[in-house]
Amino acid sequence: MPDILEKTRLPFNQLGVSSGKEIEELFRQLLEQANQDAKSIVDSEGLEEFRVKWLGRNKGICQRVGDHWLKTAPQEMKKWVGSNLNHFKDSVEAILGYQKTSIQTLELDQPSVDLTLPGIKQTLGTLHPIRQTMDELERIFLSIGFSVVEGPEIETPYYNFEALNIPEHHPARDPLDTVYLELPRGAPGQLLLRTHTSPMQARTMEKQQPPVRIIVPGKVYRRDNPDATHSYVFHQLECLAVDTDITFCDFKGTVEYFVTQFLGPRVKTRMRPSYFPFTEPSAEVDATCLFCDGKGCTKCKQSGWIELFGAGMVDPAVYGFANYDAKKLSGFAFGLGVDRMAMLKYGTDIQTLFQNDVRFLRQFQ
Ligand code: PHE
Repeated sequence: MPDILEKTRLPFNQLGVSSGKEIEELFRQLLEQANQDAKSIVDSEGLEEFRVKWLGRNKGICQRVGDHWLKTAPQEMKKWVGSNLNHFKDSVEAILGYQKTSIQTLELDQPSVDLTLPGIKQTLGTLHPIRQTMDELERIFLSIGFSVVEGPEIETPYYNFEALNIPEHHPARDPLDTVYLELPRGAPGQLLLRTHTSPMQARTMEKQQPPVRIIVPGKVYRRDNPDATHSYVFHQLECLAVDTDITFCDFKGTVEYFVTQFLGPRVKTRMRPSYFPFTEPSAEVDATCLFCDGKGCTKCKQSGWIELFGAGMVDPAVYGFANYDAKKLSGFAFGLGVDRMAMLKYGTDIQTLFQNDVRFLRQFQ
């Protein structure tokens, strides 16, 4: 542009400068000054000061420069001076606009970068003590060659009772003890909430030939009133081993191994004769009281022993339901209450395990 202007021989001398280039140089210097000014703006007050200084209607630099140049410019140069002025003013406005957005974002951001505020505490979840107990029991059995299977919580009376040699008239089948599901009118058969994990004995043997070495963890349901040791839903871990040469010694050895692994080497076990329709002989397994080391205290009712779970050698009648050859096979089974084990280990009552009170659960992080 200056070159063309040069050629038009405009009377720059009347503006007090000798060429268009010189005017442009003056604008460039002014702009540089505006840029410098803008750099020191730190807040909205600074923005306002800048605006007044450079773009103010009255005494703003743009205004004053404009007045001066337009006044002194000869008629034929007014247009050129005017367009240069506009261009200059646009540039100053652009500088202000840019600075405005960066200051505004800075001011908006400020509350979220207040490093003096305390941080937000992240609380980590943890495994429930029952889950932890299950995991620990599973780990012990997996280490001696058992595998884990799971079964349905809604069962048929066949698997929950019949296939376990529990006859029709047995009191456990009474609706006062077992939760039966209400089915649509005319639906065939009956369904119930399993009362133990033992139905998986028959279900597994139906599907699989011996040897069998399984554990079955899961929820079970009984019509019990809640108190310190009872809950209508609780957890069991079933254990079943069937093979051609399993003896009572294997049974006792496995029970002792697992109890000492779980409760500690100081604990001793004993078996008392008992009765279950699906084991023969049957036993209740007790452990020396963890709280008094077997000396006798209120927890063990001064007996020194605490009842752990029911167990026994698999009753030959049970093999019949799975088409196993009862003459060639033998095995053992037991079913332990996981919650009971957790209660013993952590010295708590069963209700606290189901209330989900974080003040209690926090202890098991
Ligand atoms: N199912 C029995 C119960 O719930 C426990 C048990 C399992 C007993 C296996 C013997 C063998 O009480």
